[in-house]
Amino acid sequence: LTARFIPEGGPSGLAARARPRVHPLYVRVTHWINVYAMACMFMSGWAIYNATPIFGFRFPQWATLGGWLGGSTAWHFAVMWLLLGNGLVYLVASLVGGHLRRDLMDVTPGAFARDAVAAARLRLRHDAGRYNAVQKVLYLGVLALGMLIVLSGLAIWKPVQLAELTALFGGFAAARVVHFIAMAGIGVFVVVHLLLVILVPRTLPPMITGRAHGVRDA
Ligand code: HEM
Repeated sequence: LTARFIPEGGPSGLAARARPRVHPLYVRVTHWINVYAMACMFMSGWAIYNATPIFGFRFPQWATLGGWLGGSTAWHFAVMWLLLGNGLVYLVASLVGGHLRRDLMDVTPGAFARDAVAAARLRLRHDAGRYNAVQKVLYLGVLALGMLIVLSGLAIWKPVQLAELTALFGGFAAARVVHFIAMAGIGVFVVVHLLLVILVPRTLPPMITGRAHGVRDA
């Protein structure tokens, strides 16, 4: 993510036409695959929930995927492999490349407090190529929720074969509640994330092309 300088037209064109690379290719590809996979998992998961609700409500039929319980579980168990594989590619690549350590995990409580206050006053800076501390905490939080939803999902998928994992969550029923809460947390993240993209729309093109105009190297 740290903006890398891509010279265009040789050294002479460098100052005039700076197009720093903001998001590496693997971050963009895994991000958009994740959006597709998450949408399928949310909608098929809601249909599975509706068959035996934990709480006193059901999700509307139009927001579900699969048509009937067998179809919804087929979607959920097929797309789960895409979500898991895609998540592993992102994790390994961002660990090996240093993206996690350099761009996300360098957040400090002081920086978070400062940026949270600035965000509350709608005065938070957003520079392409560098995340603010509030973004870093939100991204790290959703990555942790992503791991929790996969682990709790495995616990309710194979509660006999993976009995130890299921026990770790306090049993099948508790693992279902954890799975639901992780889904709700990711849902809240997505709403906040989309609001932020709407508020600062110039962050969207770099997440597609990888490049931003007019940013100096960090
Ligand atoms: C399930 C849904 C989503 C999840 C879990 C998610 C998660 C993330 C994460 C973790 C990052 C940081 C990536 C990194 O640098 O390693 C990110 C960045 C970003 N996402 Fe999403 N995202 C989701 C949906 C979307 C959608 C639907 C859009 C746009 C319509 C979007 C637009 C962006 C943009 C523009 C950035 C870069 C922000 C910036 O540079 O300031 N995301 N997302």
